[in-house]
Parts: sequence; structure tokens; C-alpha cells
Amino acid sequence: MIAASGAEKHWLRGYLLAEWRTLCAGSAIMAARAGVLLALPWPLKFIIDNVIYQRPLTPTLLNILPDPLTHRLALLDLLGLAMLGLGAFDALLVFIGNRLFLDVGQRVVFKVRSDLFAHVQRLSLDFHRRQRGGELMARLSGDVRQLQDFIAAIGIDLLPHALTILGMATVMLLIDWRYALIALSVAPVLFLMARFYANRLRKTLRLVRRQESTLSGLTQEILGGVQVVQAFARETHEDARFGKQASHSLAASLQANTVQAQFGPMMNFIIAAATGAIAWYGAASVIRGSLTPGELLVFLAYLRGIATPARQFAKTGRIFGRASVALERIGAYRAEQPSITEPPGAIAPTTCIGRVELSHVQFGYTPGQTILDDISFTLEPGRTVALVGATGSGKSTIASLIPRFYDVVAGRILLDDRPITQLPIHWLRRQIGLVLQEPLLFQASIWENIAYGLEGAGRSEAIAAARAVGVDDIIERLPGGFDAQVNERGLNLSGGQRQCVAIARAMLCRAPIVILDEPSSSLDAATEQRLMAALDRLAAQRSALVIAHRLATVMNADLILVLDQGRIVERGTHMDLLSANGHYATLWQASHDRDETPKLRLVSR
Ligand SMILES: Nc1ncnc2c1ncn2[C@@H]1O[C@H](COP(=O)(O)OP(=O)(O)OP(=O)(O)O)[C@@H](O)[C@H]1O
Ligand SMILES: [Mg+2]
Repeated sequence: MIAASGAEKHWLRGYLLAEWRTLCAGSAIMAARAGVLLALPWPLKFIIDNVIYQRPLTPTLLNILPDPLTHRLALLDLLGLAMLGLGAFDALLVFIGNRLFLDVGQRVVFKVRSDLFAHVQRLSLDFHRRQRGGELMARLSGDVRQLQDFIAAIGIDLLPHALTILGMATVMLLIDWRYALIALSVAPVLFLMARFYANRLRKTLRLVRRQESTLSGLTQEILGGVQVVQAFARETHEDARFGKQASHSLAASLQANTVQAQFGPMMNFIIAAATGAIAWYGAASVIRGSLTPGELLVFLAYLRGIATPARQFAKTGRIFGRASVALERIGAYRAEQPSITEPPGAIAPTTCIGRVELSHVQFGYTPGQTILDDISFTLEPGRTVALVGATGSGKSTIASLIPRFYDVVAGRILLDDRPITQLPIHWLRRQIGLVLQEPLLFQASIWENIAYGLEGAGRSEAIAAARAVGVDDIIERLPGGFDAQVNERGLNLSGGQRQCVAIARAMLCRAPIVILDEPSSSLDAATEQRLMAALDRLAAQRSALVIAHRLATVMNADLILVLDQGRIVERGTHMDLLSANGHYATLWQASHDRDETPKLRLVSR
């Protein structure tokens, strides 16, 4: 991966340098093409001046061309062939040159996209939580594609045209410098106009892109939550929300269109006026005899050769405008660094006993915020610590600090007496089997989703893991069993089934520590019992941190921590806490009174 450090602006350079061979070959081809374009009007000049008007050729030319005075038709044939040859050669060069630049563009896009994906994937969770859904996607696909257009525009439009313009200007100056200066005086006007418009265009296009990515984020959000939208019959409301954003986007696009639409006709008018004036002056020169008719033709052809690309600058300007926005935005992503880092040269311990100690941990998701305050406890190897408490009390947050999804603000976390910040992050995370509160599955078969827990694990290992936690028959009852396909995010499975897969996955990874964030969704009593048994099997022989919403899950824990608003308010075993007759005892009583399956009532005091 090409290193991204600081807010670099010229990050694309590295990718282009890697393609220097193709770029040089492409440039050479395009330079040759500029030569061909330069030569293209010349056979016509000779046809008019020498074949039609039978002007004598200079002695040098007489050595290579038939004499128009004696072999008029032979000269015409030769010039006709030359025109044909130049046309064919031009087509060939365009073909090869375009291919080279398009291929470079494609390859660069491929590399930029892979690198960006790899980079973004490794950014810490706080970055991902900050992103709006559609925006990251828009950048990974849309913005990167703009780069390809950009490279193609430079190679295919800008480079040959710039060379052609330079060459044509030189030849015109050589033919008749006074006339050439008059004719070329229009060029700076065109150039300044193009620049002025390109700047205006860039500004409006930046706005367009911003509005569009907001719109795509919104679309993703609404369609992603379509069930909620439909459940609350809020389609009309969402129509309005979408329509409002879409109209912002439309307004920005219309503004950009205005700028674009002004540009073309403006350029055309200047070019037409200039061509008229130059044709008039040129014809007068021919009458005066200071210019041959053929030379006038070359002049007018060159003028067109200059005007056409100048007009094209509108298109190129648009591409450049988009590309500069894309370059900036991708650059901003590349400059993002993971906030969770390991010290250079961190060495992975050879063994892990699985003793986790939190000492005076404080944490907030944003500066100044306190989600966890003075959390201290020790998870001894092979033991089970249970976390209970009202919703939002910070249970899942504690669980996310141990694999370092976030870093503590104060205090520290030790694994086998080593601060986790000193350990290699991958090693640390491999010591932990994690079952999230809302298990996430990928689009693959069930067994592949289980095997995800351990690199290199196959179907039989996955089935063995499911059997070990005792959820194999639940999975086998699905149509297709272990080979059943899970669709995106696992939405074709029930919550309980997803949880089973997640538990088997954590079992498979053979980590000495497991963190189980029990789902807060209600399951039927039978499934719940099954899941609890599965969790018990998973937790056996390992250090387990169990976040429980059902008190029955935690009865056998070695230590129960009762959390309230980010603080541990009670700690002890089930029996200790019952006899203490405090917070836990009240919860237990309440859950017993209401339900056969003891459930923690989710009320904050
Ligand atoms: N990514 C986040 N950014 C900002 N605040 C967050 C984030 N995740 C959680 N919080 C806040 O942190 C607090 C604790 O959340 P946490 O998810 O740890 O609760 P919990 O105890 O697991 O609740 P539950 O029982 O409902 O799962 C809540 O007030 C929540 O609003
Ligand atoms: Mg939670």
C-alpha cells in the first residue's frame, strides 16, 4: 500500500509514477498524433497551390515530390495517398493512445480503490460511527471513478491537444508571423475564459457532489430502515424528506448546468468571430499576394485545430472540476489514521491465560462525556463475571473496551498483567471470542459464517463447533441446514438463529476469553433455555464476561456486577447480592413476580 501520511494533496502522484512506462509510451503516441494533426492540412495546401494553381515547388521539395509542371496528376495521386495515409495513421495512433491511457486509468482506479478499502477497513470504530452511510460508498465507487476520467482526459484530450496547439502556433508563426500573431491573439482570450469557467464550475460541482452524497446517504438510511418506515406508515414523511434533499441536489445541479451551458456558446461565439476576422484578413492577404491560397487554407485548418480543443476545455474543465473534488475527498480519507494503535514493535506474548483486569476505568464516546466512571473488576482465568444493569447503563460499552474498539479515557485495562495498549491489536483480539448483542452475519452459508471465527477453518470444524455448544440441531432444522444461505446482514434468520450462529462462531475461535453480549430481544422460553445452555458451554473453561438481560443467565456467575449509569453500584455472587437486599435483590424480586423466567426489568432508577 502506498503510504498515506498527513493531509497530503498530491497522493495520486505515487500511483501515476508506478505507471510511468505506460504513461511515457502513451505520451509518445500522443506526441506523434499531434505531429499527424499538424501535417494533416498540408497535402491539401499542396493540392491547391501546386496541383491546381501549378506554382513551382522549391528545389528541396522537387527532390521528393513529382514536378507539378510536368507530372501534375502524379503529384495529385501522391498527395491524395498522403492524406489517406495520414488519416489512417491518425486513427491507429488514437486507438493505441486511448487504449494505453484508458488502461492506466483503470489500473490506477483499481489500486486506489483497493488501497482505500484496505485503509478504511482498518480505521477505528469511532471513524466508522462518524460516517454517514452512503458517503463512504460514494467515495469508494463514484469518486474513485472520477479519477479514471481525469487520467483519460489528461492523456487523451489535454496532452495531444496542447501539443497540437503548440505545434500549430509555431508553424503559423513560421509561415507569416504577423498574420499568425493576429490569428493567435484569440488564444489567450479563449484560455482565460476557459480558466474562469473551470473555476466557477469547480465551485458549483463541489456543491453538487456534496448534495448528492447527502442524498445517497439519506436514501440508504430510509431504504435500509424500510421496515420501520412501513410499520409506522411514514412513507409520505420520507417522501418529503427525500424530496427536500433531492431538490437541494437539483438546485445545485441546475446551477452547475447554467455555468456549463454558458461556457460552450461563449467559446463558440469568440471562435466564430475570430475565424471570420481571420478569414477576411487572410483573403485580403491572398489578394495582395503576401499569402498563397494554400497557406490560407492551412491557417484556417489550424485555427479550427486550435478552436476545437479549446471548446473541449468545457468538457475537460468539468472532468477536472470533479476530479479535484474527488482528489480532495479521497485525500481526506487517506489522511485519516486509526485512533487505536499499537506501539511499534509490540510483541505478542506466547500464551494467554485470560486474566482481565479493569482498574479505575473511565470512558466517554465524545470528549467531556462520561459513560463509564471508575470501573474496576477482575475477570479471573476460567471464571465468569456477569454484568447486569438497566438499558444504557454502559454494559456493552465495557465489553467494547476490552478488545480495544475504543480506548479508555482514564484508568487501564490489563490482560495477564500487561496493559492492553502495549499488545499487538490483532493478537489481543484473537484472544477474545465475541458475541455481539446484535450478531452480524455475512452473505454466505451458515457454516461459512461459523468458520469466519477462525482463519482456515472448514465445514467440519464449523459443524463441530455448533455441536460443542449444542445448537447444531437448531441449524439443521433450517432448510439447507449448515449450507443454508444467509442473506445480507442475516435478515432471513430469526434473532435466535443468528445468535446460535454467533455463539458457534465464538466457540470455534478457541479464544481463552469470551465476551457475550446477550441479546435483549425476547426469545421463546425453549430457545432461551437452549441459548443459555449454549452460552454455558461456551463459557465453561474460559474467562467469560457475560452481559445479561435475564437474571437466570447470571445466577451461577462467579461475580455479578450491577451497573447503574456507568458506575458499579453492587458486586458479589447471586447469594451475596440477594442477602444484601439492595438493587439486585429488588430486580430479582421484580423479575420473579412478573415472569416464570426471571428477567431483568429494564428500568433505570
Ligand atoms: N457509539 C456511541 N456513541 C455515543 N454514545 C454511545 C455510543 N454507543 C453507546 N452510547 C451511549 O453510551 C451509553 C451506554 O450504552 P451501552 O450500549 O453500553 O448500554 P448497555 O448497558 O449495553 O444497554 P443495553 O442493555 O440496552 O444493551 C448509552 O447512554 C448510549 O447512549
Ligand atoms: Mg448493550
